[in-house]
Amino acid sequence: MIDELQALRDEALAALAAAADAAALEQWRITYLGKKGRLTTVLRGLGALPPAERPRVGQVANEIKALLESAGAARAEEIKRQERQRSLQAEAVDVTLPGRPVRLGQHHIVTQVIREILDIYIGLGFQVVEGPEVEWDRYNFEMLNIPKDHPARDIWDTYYIAHPTRMGEMLMRTHTSPAQPRVMERTRPPVRVVVPGKVYRFEATDATHETMFYQIEGLAVDEGITFGDMKGVLTTMAKRLFGEERRVRFRCDYFPFTEPSAEVAISCHRCDGKDPDCRVCKGSGWLEILGAGMVHPNVLAGVGYDPLIYSGFAFGLGPERVAMLKYGIDDIRLFYGNDLRFLRQFR
Ligand code: PHE
Repeated sequence: MIDELQALRDEALAALAAAADAAALEQWRITYLGKKGRLTTVLRGLGALPPAERPRVGQVANEIKALLESAGAARAEEIKRQERQRSLQAEAVDVTLPGRPVRLGQHHIVTQVIREILDIYIGLGFQVVEGPEVEWDRYNFEMLNIPKDHPARDIWDTYYIAHPTRMGEMLMRTHTSPAQPRVMERTRPPVRVVVPGKVYRFEATDATHETMFYQIEGLAVDEGITFGDMKGVLTTMAKRLFGEERRVRFRCDYFPFTEPSAEVAISCHRCDGKDPDCRVCKGSGWLEILGAGMVHPNVLAGVGYDPLIYSGFAFGLGPERVAMLKYGIDDIRLFYGNDLRFLRQFR
């Protein structure tokens, strides 16, 4: 009987060592120590033994029961530890792996060019101000010496807002020039401002026309400001934008709110007029980048500035055009097509 018990113990211990997980362990417990388990059956059979043998066999059986119980508990601990180890390994993060790169955003190419131009004017003592994109007819036209039914209105194809009010008609500003009367109306000279912003034109789009684009307006008014001051300021800008060797050309132009008016071009930064096939200046040697002129006396008088005392110059320039010339871009529609392959080239 005792030999049998010891064989059962050895078998149970071997089976325990082979139990690899919690389910196998439970199965083992039921097999040997459960209510109908093998050891339990032996203990129940004690009563059938001769009384003299009962105490010894009972003692050995109880010792084996205690041994198996504590071995089972130890194995349970061991299995728990192994499972924890396995799950830790499965969840492990390799902190030495390289991270996923995060692509940095950037300013739109037109924003970059606008900032570059504004910085030049800030350096020359100009202030940056802004105005509304939805504008009154009064500022966009009338205060700029363009009364109703004036033929010069045809220069700007205008989007009108549907409902005229007692302040007159509303429209999408066709240029940043309404900033001129807006600024002068609320300040006294000297005035030196640059005004960046979006403008809108009711036109068919093509490689050089968009219905929305940017302008930067410039305005300087004080006692004794001359055409020479304007030439100096615009020449400085041209050199800072396109290089020290740039020359500036002024040709007659017409705007109702400046007199005289000029179309301003700078010498080609790519060929300096030497390449008849130049793709930047188309062989002309000159890049037209802005309209300008001396502020018309009617505009000054309209905001209460005495034109006999004050004079000034104004200009309006297209940053998309500057960007196209600077970077050799041949279609203005690329700027607002939201194609990242285009936009990401300008970092
Ligand atoms: N506002 C004019 C345009 O959009 C440009 C301009 C501005 C001309 C200021 C002269 C002075 O065409």
